Amino acid sequence: MSDISFKDNIPALQNKHYFNYGGQGPLPTRSLNAITSSWQTIQQLGPFTTDVWPYIANEIIGTKKLISEICGIHPRRIALSENVSSGCVLPLLGLPFSDGDHVLISDCEHPGIVAACKELAQRKNLKIGILPVLKLQNGYDKKDETYKTVLTLIEQNLQKDTKLVVLSHLLWNTGQIMPIELISKKLKEHANKPYLLVDAAQSFCHIPIKGACNEADIYAFTGHKWAYGPEGLGAVALSTRVLKESNPTLIGWKSLKTEEGIHINNKTPFHSDGRRFEIATSCVPLLAGLKSSLKMLKNESSETERLFKIKKLSSILWEKLNQIKHIELVLNNPPPSGIISFSIKGINDPEEVVKHLGQKKIWIRVLEDPKWLRACVHITTDLNEIDNLVIALDNFISTKKSR
Ligand SMILES: Cc1ncc(COP(=O)(O)O)c(C=O)c1O
Repeated sequence: MSDISFKDNIPALQNKHYFNYGGQGPLPTRSLNAITSSWQTIQQLGPFTTDVWPYIANEIIGTKKLISEICGIHPRRIALSENVSSGCVLPLLGLPFSDGDHVLISDCEHPGIVAACKELAQRKNLKIGILPVLKLQNGYDKKDETYKTVLTLIEQNLQKDTKLVVLSHLLWNTGQIMPIELISKKLKEHANKPYLLVDAAQSFCHIPIKGACNEADIYAFTGHKWAYGPEGLGAVALSTRVLKESNPTLIGWKSLKTEEGIHINNKTPFHSDGRRFEIATSCVPLLAGLKSSLKMLKNESSETERLFKIKKLSSILWEKLNQIKHIELVLNNPPPSGIISFSIKGINDPEEVVKHLGQKKIWIRVLEDPKWLRACVHITTDLNEIDNLVIALDNFISTKKSR
């Protein structure tokens, strides 16, 4: 499948310049049709009949198989989820903590995950420490230096009672990639063997993830960002120790080995695989949508080829933005991923920029804390879109400054 046909199959990309893949990726028509067709099949077979169960079981198995291939792990370590947040939080809340345990969380985590960790700390009387990675500004050319600094920061901030480290694989605000495998190695050497929770919202289908996914204890992602999948379906990869040591928090029939009534006293009612963190009825047709998008991506090119293309595009955008007076890029060299964040000197309300570009059908977003502008490029981004974004920003700044 060529670039053109992949992009041509995505209606959302036909009438706008779209740079918000890190917020939500657009859905190809083929995947939308797969969802509709799955919904029709379910109605024709069921929806609640013995005829429909094999179809549903196959949809689940097929989706987990595709996901587990991307993750490089056995499907039994995968739990399907609704989104990144539930993938992080459901296994997290079931981990065994002791009074006074230390939780190390980076200063680049998403507000939902931060809030969950804070609430957990309050309920279980845990201490929270902050891993300062926001300040890392080297681009791709100094990737090894960045990795070394992150490892030093980890060493400096681990305590003897650290029980959990929370860090995204790809930081949603700076676009930096974190050395998850190396960090996991370090944590395994620590006497307390802290768990490693990785928010993979920005890494799944954006960069190769096999090593990180295999090493993390909880590696949670969604199909609706870089995978061009539908919203409402994600997954989490779990380590074998999390499957053993974390009990489900939100419990429903899907978590159970067998559905038993009140009179049965089963001491180990939950599945020993990823299903222990799945809850109850969910939207089956979304599986067909995600499967379709994952297959389209796989047919398009390998994950290394895709990242190569993304990095080429993001370095072009970075170079062009770097030429514009008053634009302050967050990284001081072309980024290692498709995320480019920046601010504009003298513009106090970046929403104004988003609104202005939106009127021209060019879509970027504002991040909170720090209030940066973020543009994402993906394999469906083209040079014309990049040029038009740069021209629109340049014009906006010139008009503002001439007033
Ligand atoms: C890094 C990161 N984590 C978590 C989330 C929340 O994702 P979800 O709505 O799928 O839970 C986002 C969404 O933008 C994100 O960028």
